Amino acid sequence: MAMKMRQVGPCFAAEVEGVDLTKPLSPDDVAAIHAGMDEYAVLVFHDQPLTDDQQLAFTVSLGDIEHAIGTSLRAPDEYRLPTTFADVSNLDKDHKVYAREDRRRLFAIGNRLWHSDSSFKVVPAKYSLLHARSIPSKGGNTEFADMRAAYEALDDETKREIEDLICEHSQIFSRQQLGFVDFTDEERERFKPVRQRLVRTHPSTGRKSVYLASHAGGIVGWPVPEALCFLKDLIEHATQRQFVYTHRWRVNDLVMWDNRCTMHRGTEFDDLRWRRDVQRATVLDVAGSCEQEGIAAA
Ligand SMILES: [Fe+2]
Repeated sequence: MAMKMRQVGPCFAAEVEGVDLTKPLSPDDVAAIHAGMDEYAVLVFHDQPLTDDQQLAFTVSLGDIEHAIGTSLRAPDEYRLPTTFADVSNLDKDHKVYAREDRRRLFAIGNRLWHSDSSFKVVPAKYSLLHARSIPSKGGNTEFADMRAAYEALDDETKREIEDLICEHSQIFSRQQLGFVDFTDEERERFKPVRQRLVRTHPSTGRKSVYLASHAGGIVGWPVPEALCFLKDLIEHATQRQFVYTHRWRVNDLVMWDNRCTMHRGTEFDDLRWRRDVQRATVLDVAGSCEQEGIAAA
């Protein structure tokens, strides 16, 4: 059966049929998935009962893998999954839900803010591939916003104003918005800001997009309150309903998205009661931050 894609979001996001991700993909299938990502930016595959190894094999067929080391508050001996996965579940290493006051839980609540995965890293994320093993019966959706459509809807003056702006991204900035500020000195060092261009051009399609995330806590050369207000307004613009697709998870869904031109957020659920066992494998970007491109600090 040939692979078919059907748009399910307002201006992006498609469901894919006719492919079995538990099996190695042909070069034609891989090319079709890259082309689908270029067009839709979010692809949804239902009924894919993947093992860890199968999820990794599919991810590796699309590019180099990001290792999730030092990006959460889990200590190395508290990892539930190998570092080839980002553990975005609400579970500790014994597969028990986090207690209400657990700071790892409170930190993870930051995933409910709009963001692009790993925008706080020198090498950010290209594709995220999230697989659902166990989901709550209510809530816990993932919402996606199309940053290409959001950019294209800006007026020309704003496009000119933001063209060369550079933002500073850190997980400290996103958590501060939620009142989570009790970082240790070691965490503050580990989470120090990385600079990212606000406007990015997609290398395959040439489409421009706004590269936004709640991790952005400043614009280089701007006073902080002015920058934060400006970024808040931009995120508000970019996440209007006409740019948003909501994914309601089923077990064995695999959803992948292009972090270079989308944002996403998890929605609320009763995480003290329900296990939300979802795990993410991530393809590295090849270019991204100013640090990586060798652009000197202002
Ligand atoms: Fe995320």
